[in-house]
Amino acid sequence: MADKSNKDPMLSNKIAGAILAALLLVFGLPQLTAALLGGGEGHGGGEGDELHLAYCCVELETETVAVAEEAPPDLGTLLANASVAGGERRAALCKSCHTLNEGGANAAGPNLWGVVDRPVANVDGFNYTSALAAAGGAWTYDRLDQYLKNSQDYIPGTAMVQRFAKDGQRADILAYLGSLSASPVAFPAPAIVAAPGVDEAANAAEDVVESVTDAAQGAVENTADAVEEALGDH
Ligand code: HEC
Repeated sequence: MADKSNKDPMLSNKIAGAILAALLLVFGLPQLTAALLGGGEGHGGGEGDELHLAYCCVELETETVAVAEEAPPDLGTLLANASVAGGERRAALCKSCHTLNEGGANAAGPNLWGVVDRPVANVDGFNYTSALAAAGGAWTYDRLDQYLKNSQDYIPGTAMVQRFAKDGQRADILAYLGSLSASPVAFPAPAIVAAPGVDEAANAAEDVVESVTDAAQGAVENTADAVEEALGDH
């Protein structure tokens, strides 16, 4: 009697374990395998199983890195990399309406010497539109950038029509305008001083994908071994 009561629970545990393992083998492993192959080699894997979800999340991280890479640089960064000489060449366009030298006469537009930090619509003897006169404040690099990017958008009703779309070229012009002063105004600081290398981040994400793949593969092999062992017992 004592022998039997000891043996019975053991046996039923083993049988239950074997059935569970068999169920995992029949239903679990194919899904696990599909998830591994699908998730590992591309996007063709099965749906709805947890392992595949884990792949989704790792991939999402990689995509976030890619998005960060595409975000346009801030004005401070653009100005830090801008070319005053390039801006001077592009400012030939401005000279058809503006003088740029100190004490230069007003033309179709007002003189632009020292325009950075200068109060908006403040040049003596120039007849500004009420739209620009009402804008208030002073010309910062940022406000000049917006004005040159799309003057009508930034100050509706201003007499100047400019749509300078390219960020880098606008920054060149701004750097040149900034140089037109006895005491040039410092550029705004770049937003991110030491941006971690995008490549590094991408490599790190790849390492995560690799280790998850290894771990999942190990888990499947372990499960297969355990199932074989359990089945071999009976
Ligand atoms: C076709 C003529 C024309 C061209 C080209 C032009 N501007 Fe202007 N600009 C004007 C006029 C007119 C005004 C005055 C706008 C108002 O009163 O609303 C003005 C105003 C400005 C002001 C405001 C000045 C102040 O005193 O507040 C800035 C800054 C400026 N222009 C920069 C530029 C730059 C930089 C370029 C070249 C990329 C340029 N403009 C090209 C006609 C022009």
